[in-house]
Amino acid sequence: MRLKQRIPFLRWSVWRMATGSRNITVTGQIGDGREAAAVEYVLKHARAGDIDDVLATIDRFAYEKSMLINVGDEKGALLDAAVRRADPKLALELGTYCGYGALRIARAAPVAKVYSVELAEANAVNAREIWAHAGVADRVTCVVGTIGDSGHTLDVLAREHGFTAGALDFLFLDHDKDAYLVDLQSILDRGWLHPGSIVVADNVKVPGAPKYREYMRQQQGKKWSTTEHKAHVEYQSLISDLVLESEYLG
Ligand SMILES: C[S@@+](CC[C@H](N)C(=O)[O-])C[C@H]1O[C@@H](n2cnc3c(N)ncnc32)[C@H](O)[C@@H]1O
Repeated sequence: MRLKQRIPFLRWSVWRMATGSRNITVTGQIGDGREAAAVEYVLKHARAGDIDDVLATIDRFAYEKSMLINVGDEKGALLDAAVRRADPKLALELGTYCGYGALRIARAAPVAKVYSVELAEANAVNAREIWAHAGVADRVTCVVGTIGDSGHTLDVLAREHGFTAGALDFLFLDHDKDAYLVDLQSILDRGWLHPGSIVVADNVKVPGAPKYREYMRQQQGKKWSTTEHKAHVEYQSLISDLVLESEYLG
C-alpha cells in the first residue's frame, strides 16, 4: 500500500471530504461530485455482470481517485463473513451511499433479496446504476426514506417487499450513527428479526455510535451476543474503527 493510501491526511480528497462532512448529513454526498464520478468510473472500467470486478473498481476509485465513505475492503471482509454466517434469504442495509455495501451483501448471499434504505434520492440513482452494471438489479433494491420517518418506510418494506415477522435474517447499520439504536429498536418492534438474525454495525468507533455500543454491552448474553471487531476506517490504515457483529438471541 502506498504511503498516500495508508496515511489519509496526505490525500486532497480526504481534506475535501472533511470540509464536506456537513454536506453528507444533509444531502448524503460529499458535495464535489465524487459519487457521480465513481459511477462513471465503474461503468467505464468494470466488467459488466462481474460483481468482483465492480467492487474492486470501486475500491480502486476510492484509493486512487477520491475517498468514498463505503464500508471499504477491510471492514467489508468482516461484513462478508457475517453475511455468510447469517446465510440470509432477506437482508436489509440502512445507508446505501453508492451501493457498495449492498453489493458486498449480495455477493456473499447469492440468493438473498437485499434491500437498502437511503435518505438521498441522488444516492439511490447512483447505486441502482452500479447494481445494474454488476448484474444484481433484480434482487437488490433501494428504498428512499428513513426508518425514522414516522413509519412510512417501515410500512413500504412491510407492504411491498415481504418484511414480515421473523423474515429478516441480516441487518447492516451504516447510516446516521445517532440513529443506530432507535432504528434497531423500531425494527425490533416490528418483530422482523428472529433468533439467529445477525446485525452488523459499522463506524462504532469513528465517527462513533456510543449509545449503540453501550446497549450491546448491556444486552450481552441476554437479548444479544456481540463480537467487537477491531479494524480501520475505510481506505487507510492509520485511524482505527470498530465493527460490531451481534446475533439476536430473541
Ligand atoms: C457511510 S454511508 C453508507 C455506505 C454504504 N453502507 C456502503 O458501505 O457502501 C452513509 C449513507 O447513509 C445515508 N443516510 C444518512 N442518514 C440516513 C438515515 N437516517 N436513513 C437512511 N440513510 C441515511 C447517507 O445519505 C449516506 O448515503
